[in-house]
Amino acid sequence: MTTLQILSSEHLAVTQKMESFISILGKLIVGQSLEGTPPLEDLRTFIHRAILPHFDLEEKTVFPLLLSKQDNRTLYDELMEDHRLLKEQFALFFELCHRDQVTDEFVKISTDMITNLILHARKEDRTLIPLVRRLFGMEGDEPLPHAPPIIYSKPDDR
Ligand SMILES: [Fe+2]
Ligand SMILES: [Fe+2]
Repeated sequence: MTTLQILSSEHLAVTQKMESFISILGKLIVGQSLEGTPPLEDLRTFIHRAILPHFDLEEKTVFPLLLSKQDNRTLYDELMEDHRLLKEQFALFFELCHRDQVTDEFVKISTDMITNLILHARKEDRTLIPLVRRLFGMEGDEPLPHAPPIIYSKPDDR
């Protein structure tokens, strides 16, 4: 699989996973203990092992291509800003996971984070990937120029 194909299939996986978390969040009850809630642990692990490496891959291989052929600085800045804001939301989410109980704030922040993540993946699927394919004549989806191999973090790398 090429980098673009990998990113695109990960967007689908992220969207499906996030949709399932939204429904889990909807079932949490304020005051319920957060400790050891398996779906939340799963979400934290997923952010560390799949989403953050995915962001890194995009920032190192695909986003720079936006600046290399024509001026797509606006889209580049927008996507980088999305990543920055999402990372801020992840940090807040991790912090809230250490609290004892489910609060309204926890449900709201988690829901916002998940929604923003889904919207970001959709933006990349609809705008970024088609544009990069067009710019580099990759209708057949050849490997990206200079794309390094993808290295995902190991399970104990958190
Ligand atoms: Fe992204
Ligand atoms: Fe992405």
